[in-house]
This record gives sequence, structure tokens and C-alpha cells, in this order.
Amino acid sequence: MKNLYLIITLFAVFALAACGSVSEPAADAIAQAPLMVEAMDLKDAESAADSEAEESLSIPEVEEDQPADPEEIQPAVTPTAETPLDLPLPLTPPQGEGPFYPVEKPADRDNNLVVVEGLSSLPEGSILTLSGRLLRTDGTPIGGAVIEIWQTDNNGVYLHPNDPGIANRDPAFQSYGEAVTAADGNYAFVTLLPNIYGNRPRHIHVKVVQDDREQLTTQFYFAGDERLQSDGLVASAGEDLSLLLVDMSEGVDENGRPVLVGVRDIVLP
Ligand SMILES: [Fe+2]
Repeated sequence: MKNLYLIITLFAVFALAACGSVSEPAADAIAQAPLMVEAMDLKDAESAADSEAEESLSIPEVEEDQPADPEEIQPAVTPTAETPLDLPLPLTPPQGEGPFYPVEKPADRDNNLVVVEGLSSLPEGSILTLSGRLLRTDGTPIGGAVIEIWQTDNNGVYLHPNDPGIANRDPAFQSYGEAVTAADGNYAFVTLLPNIYGNRPRHIHVKVVQDDREQLTTQFYFAGDERLQSDGLVASAGEDLSLLLVDMSEGVDENGRPVLVGVRDIVLP
């Protein structure tokens, strides 16, 4: 019955709008229509809210249609070496490690976090290919270094026993991964767009290790995230925050399926 009322209401509103004469009651109906939808189907309303949140992040939307065979997704190495470097390059600012660095790293810790060895299912969420170069301030590429990332899954949960949401962790997500930089400094991951937890903006934790020594610990963020405005760690980066933002665009994997493409270079002294 409520569905019928909604359809009639919306039809009347559109008809009035088409005539260019939306009366006050009709305008009220427009304002009330979303509330009725929410009351009828809370789950749909939540999905709509999620969509709005995604839009406010300026992160391109990716179709839900995910490949059946996760092995088909390979890290997309984004060739960016052609871009002239404005030397000297600014240093990537450090950020705190946070409390969720894995206590026990997963057995499968490669650079493809959406494929967990022994599992055939893909994790929930939007697939993100994250790549870039590891460079010195003079532009020299750093090969053979290990870049570690750890992050939340689509439920906003880390692979860590102290995460209060650990019971809801998606086992199909690797949560932690390592990539070895190539001779030209390139690194690449296939991961997920991390979901939020607490008051923190979306972020990916990053650690650079060279010759078994930690060179940098930091966090990557996403432009347009409203939570960047009120985050203490973000504030500590000051104007250097731009050096921690992942450049986002839409792309496709090797099979032409849509993925999010993120690029962020890392610069060491
Ligand atoms: Fe975190």
C-alpha cells in the first residue's frame, strides 16, 4: 500500500514539475518521499547513503560485477616514468604506525590482497590497484626495497586481534601485503578501497623496508574525504598532506573489468 502511495506521489510530483508549477504541498511531498522510501526499505536507504559517501570522496564508482576467477586479477603496473620529475622531489612525510600492524603476518603476504591462497572467493568491496615508484629526492629509483601495506577490509576491520570488529573480518581479504620494488622503483598492489572505522578517514598504512631496515612508516589517504578535515594525524602532515593522497581514476583490469586505479609515489632521502 505504501509502495502504491509512493508511486502515486512521485507521479504527481513529476507531473506538476513538468508543468513548471510545483505547489507547496507538492514540494512537501518531494521532501517527504525519501523518508517514506527509508521507512519502507532501510537497507536500500543505507545503500543510497553509502553511495553518497562514495561520491563525496571523489572516488570513481566501480560496478559491482566482479570477476568469477580472482586469479585473473593481476597488479597493474602503471608506467609513470615518462612524467618529467620536478627535482628535488619532496620527501614523503611519515605518519604513525597505529595499533593494528599485524601481530602475525598472514602466510599469503604477496602483493595481491584480493586473492588469499586456498580460497576461491573474492573479498567484498571495490578493487583498487595501487601503484607508484619508490624514489630518492634526486629522482633516483630505489629497487629491491619491500613496501608493506596493511589496511581494513570492506567491513572496516584489520587483521589484528585487538580490532573490536575482528569477528566481522572478511577472510577472503589478505589485509596485509608486500611488494618488492623493481629496478625502476615501481611497485604495485591489488587491494580494496579500505573502509572507515572510528573517526578516521579512509587510509592505507605503508611501511618501506630496505636491507631489513625500516626507512619510512606512513599512511595514504584519499582526496575529497570529509574526515581528512578533523583527523589529528592528517593535520600533523600540514601542507604535505598532498604527498600522501592517492591519485584516483577509473581503469580496467587485464580482462577489461572496471577497477579503481590509485597512484602514489614514495620519496625517501
Ligand atoms: Fe589505521
